[in-house]
Amino acid sequence: MRTVRTIAELRRALAPARDARLRVGLVPTMGALHDGHLSLLGAARAECDLLVMSVFVNPLQFGPSEDLAAYPRDEARDAALAQEAGVDLLFTPAAEEIYPPGFATSVVVRGVSERLEGEQRPGHFEGVATVVAKLLNIVAPEVAYFGQKDAQQAIVIKRLVADLDMPVRIEVCPTVREHDGLAQSSRNAYLSAEERARATSISRALERAAQLIARGERDSRTAVAAARGELAAHDLEPEYLEIVDPDTLVPVKRVERPVLVALAARVGRARLIDNVIATPSTNGVEPS
Ligand code: PAJ
Repeated sequence: MRTVRTIAELRRALAPARDARLRVGLVPTMGALHDGHLSLLGAARAECDLLVMSVFVNPLQFGPSEDLAAYPRDEARDAALAQEAGVDLLFTPAAEEIYPPGFATSVVVRGVSERLEGEQRPGHFEGVATVVAKLLNIVAPEVAYFGQKDAQQAIVIKRLVADLDMPVRIEVCPTVREHDGLAQSSRNAYLSAEERARATSISRALERAAQLIARGERDSRTAVAAARGELAAHDLEPEYLEIVDPDTLVPVKRVERPVLVALAARVGRARLIDNVIATPSTNGVEPS
């Protein structure tokens, strides 16, 4: 594995692969690697000839009162895990490499960016879309890999590449969870033991909603109320907990098709997000 820190160096390193028509895959990350990231690398390694991973804690996607300074960073550990996962090129640029003086362009994806996370974190998806557009332009991969854990992010990025005619396939990989259901996240490192225990109610709340829907419940309010109850039992109040269309993120009142159940909740100083796809039974009887 080779580590490169500049765009010019990365482009030089990629040129022979491009000439040889090798299939280049990109896994963009902010580092603090965990099994979720490793699953993306595994999927990419299986499909691609040359695997690029970026580690860049993107200042543009953090709000002024968010955790940019505290975000966990461990370059040596990330490099060792990347090497083990079969990464060929590790791209770890400095902030000034990505945003040099005079940088003035921003990518805004309207609509899907404005709901859920977008309402709570103004400017977040503008930062994500801008950096991902840059990374896709820098690496020009055939495939780029993202996690279902950040379902809205994946939707925003699919919209971005479709709208800007970027010749890349976006692959979305399943959410990797801890043994008790908690979705793997770099931000789990912020949790105390007590908070970690309460955080398990996040995935349980989502599962509860999905289970009701699978058993015939059609009213999304009922499913949301049950999920909220699960959180409340562990002293958690979601920032949002919504049942939405998995493609458009428009709220769904009556569940007739698969839906996305998505939530964000603060546990101590960690802000955690998670989601599941809930599929209604085709022959279920609606409970009275
Ligand atoms: P980061 O949070 O480091 O996540 C990098 C990728 O890993 C994202 O596609 C995310 O959805 C995926 N991922 C995170 N946790 C996961 C889990 N438990 N299971 C499966 N995949 C998981 O998301 C970002 O970085 C940034 O916004 C980025 C896309 C790199 C742009 O800065």
